[in-house]
Amino acid sequence: MTSAERRFGSTGRALPRVGQGTWMMEQDPEAAVVALREGLDLGMTLVDTAEMYGSGGVEQIVRRAIAGRRDDVFLVSKVLPHNASRQGTREACERSLQRLGVEQLDLYLLHWPGEHPLVETFAVFDELQRAGKLAAWGVSNFDADELDAAVRLVGPGRIACNQVLYHLGERSIEHAVRASCREHDMALMAYSPFGQGDFPVPGSPGRAVLDDVAAAHGVSAHAVALAFLMTDESVFTIPKASRVEHTRANARALTLGLAPDQWARVDEAFPRGPARAGVPML
Ligand SMILES: NC(=O)c1ccc[n+]([C@@H]2O[C@H](COP(=O)([O-])OP(=O)(O)OC[C@H]3O[C@@H](n4cnc5c(N)ncnc54)[C@H](OP(=O)(O)O)[C@@H]3O)[C@@H](O)[C@H]2O)c1
Repeated sequence: MTSAERRFGSTGRALPRVGQGTWMMEQDPEAAVVALREGLDLGMTLVDTAEMYGSGGVEQIVRRAIAGRRDDVFLVSKVLPHNASRQGTREACERSLQRLGVEQLDLYLLHWPGEHPLVETFAVFDELQRAGKLAAWGVSNFDADELDAAVRLVGPGRIACNQVLYHLGERSIEHAVRASCREHDMALMAYSPFGQGDFPVPGSPGRAVLDDVAAAHGVSAHAVALAFLMTDESVFTIPKASRVEHTRANARALTLGLAPDQWARVDEAFPRGPARAGVPML
C-alpha cells in the first residue's frame, strides 16, 4: 500500500484515499470528462457516481471518462431508495451498468434509507455480487443505529462502506458514525468534503488558518481540508471538481499529512459541534 492509499474496509483493497465525486457534472460534460481523466492520471481512481445524478446522464459522462481504462478505476454507483425493491434494484443496477458501459461495479450503495425493507435490497445486492455484477456493496447516509441494524441483518463484513456528509462545517459523524464504521470494518466515504462549494471564504478567520497551514506545505486550503478529514484511517474523501485546476489541487491531498499542531489549529478553527440525531441527506 502506498502513502496515497488506504485499506477499503472489509474489501481489504488498497484504494486512493482521495477519489472523485460527480454530482452536477451534467452541467458541463466536456469539462467534466477532462477533469475526471486528469484525476485518474493523478491517481484519484475512485470515482463516485449515482443513477440520480443528471437522471443517469452523469453515468454516461463517467463512461466517457473511463473509456479504455476500466481496470484502473474503482467505480461506485448508487441505487435510489425508491428503486430499491427486489426487482427495482436488479433493474436499476442493470441500467447503471449499461450507462457506464461496464460489466461490474466495484461498489454499489443504497443512496439513503428508504421505504423498501433493507433485507430485500441487501438480498439483491448479494445476488448481484454472486452473479459478478457487483464486487462489493454498501450504504450511504446511515447513522450509527441504522448501521448497527443493517449489520444485524446481514452479519459482519458484508457492508463495505457507508458514504456520509463530512466537511469542516459539518463534523457530526465524528460523534458516533465514524466509530461505528470502524467497529464494523466499513470504509467511511466523506461526501461534500468542501460543503458543496460552501468553503470558508478568503479573509475569514478559519480560512486564514487553512491558508497558513497550506502555505507551509505548498498546497491549497482545499487540500488541507481534505487531509484534516482523512486523519482517521477509515476515511476516504470524494471531492467533486469540474475544473482541471481544482482536480490538480485536490490530488495533492493524496499524500498530504498534517503535523499534530497543524491538525489542532484546524480543529480549533472548525469545532466539531454537538451531536445531533440523524445524518442529513443530499
Ligand atoms: N451519498 C450522498 O448522498 C451524496 C450527497 C452529495 C454528494 N455526494 C458525492 O460526493 C461528491 C462531492 O460532493 P459535492 O459534489 O456535493 O461537493 P464538494 O466536493 O464538497 O464541492 C464541490 C465544489 O467545490 C469546488 N471545488 C472542488 N475542488 C476545488 C478546489 N481545489 N478549489 C476550489 N474549489 C473547488 C467545485 O468546483 P468545480 O466543480 O467548478 O471544479 C464545486 O463547486 C459528489 O459529487 C457526489 O459524488 C454523495
